[in-house]
Amino acid sequence: MTGTKAPRAGMFEQEKKSALDAISQAQFIAFAPYIFNASVILRDSGILATVEASRQNGIALEDVVTKVDMSHYGVRILLEAALGIGLVLRKEDKYYLSKTGHFFLNDAMTRVNTDFMRDVCYEGAKELEKSISNSKPEGLKYLGDWPTIYQGLSMLPEPAKTSWFAFDHYYSDHTFPEAMPMIFEHNPKKIMDIGANTGKFSLHCLNYNSEVELGLVDLGIQLNVAKQNIQEAGFEARAQYHERNVLDKNSELPAGYDIIWMSQFLDCFADDEIVFILEKCHRVLNEGGRVFINELFWDRQKFEASAFSLQMTSLYFTTMANGNSQMYDSKVFLALVDKAGFEVVTQRDNIGQVHTILELKKK
Ligand SMILES: C[S@@+](CC[C@H](N)C(=O)[O-])C[C@H]1O[C@@H](n2cnc3c(N)ncnc32)[C@H](O)[C@@H]1O
Repeated sequence: MTGTKAPRAGMFEQEKKSALDAISQAQFIAFAPYIFNASVILRDSGILATVEASRQNGIALEDVVTKVDMSHYGVRILLEAALGIGLVLRKEDKYYLSKTGHFFLNDAMTRVNTDFMRDVCYEGAKELEKSISNSKPEGLKYLGDWPTIYQGLSMLPEPAKTSWFAFDHYYSDHTFPEAMPMIFEHNPKKIMDIGANTGKFSLHCLNYNSEVELGLVDLGIQLNVAKQNIQEAGFEARAQYHERNVLDKNSELPAGYDIIWMSQFLDCFADDEIVFILEKCHRVLNEGGRVFINELFWDRQKFEASAFSLQMTSLYFTTMANGNSQMYDSKVFLALVDKAGFEVVTQRDNIGQVHTILELKKK
């Protein structure tokens, strides 16, 4: 196998905090719901932006009150909470934006994650224990009446729909340009995109190569959205649509493809389901063909913030998505790949910063 070494082996092996840091972090856990709610209001009410605009001059509480639509009391408790949270600093009665405040306000990844938590996950988060006990996404009822979130994706109420798609696309979109040379090195005539969603990856391929044909596989409701996008882009002649529930024991995937691509897809399934899906791929993949898996593994991250985001995203799968999947530890995932009869040819980490692309061939 060729590829890259674990970016930060040992990230979770050693205690790095002093006792004082550790007790502070324990308070962050104790007050976590307020920390989240206060931070989101500070952002969305314009309080943080007002403090940011004051730059090195800083701004007094009274002056913030005149610029936002909130009572003096409201601004005061939120700014005092922001001091403890670390979003602002205070010197001689003037508030200044801290580094954390800057990232919370301006960093695109933080905004996408925060909106996803606020609009998709927050209410259902209290159903975590029940979801684990029942292996069902017991928090999903706050968004709609579906067995898993995938039956309802295109019908999610707003703002959950916008925040879900922004979260999903933010991560996978960055990886598609890097994936193109890895895939087209094999001169594929036909590529199957399983979990095609809105058709973004398929569109990338159709734009990248003028001959290649794409077979899009997804649940019916999603496939309709992808079809519309492919039609609008004028690629109808080179696209086929295969409506499938990949967990259906009575249906196979379409045959005749040189490459099978699955991006942020297998994390939607439990361990035994991943083996079941990969075995389906094994049965239909052309001889000499390749499976490419674009995934996020928390143990392959360079930065603790990325590993942390993925470990927390697992809990979204538990409470909101389907109750039995997660963002995997690559060691767990690679054992499933092996069980399904595939061998890893290449493993490349840090694709689009946080993804890993696995290239598999039949053993
Ligand atoms: C997290 S999205 C990934 C979308 C896209 N591949 C990307 O990289 O952004 C997962 C996709 O898998 C589809 N999906 C989930 N369960 C499925 C199932 N049982 N059968 C077929 N498709 C499914 C969903 O409809 C959704 O489009």
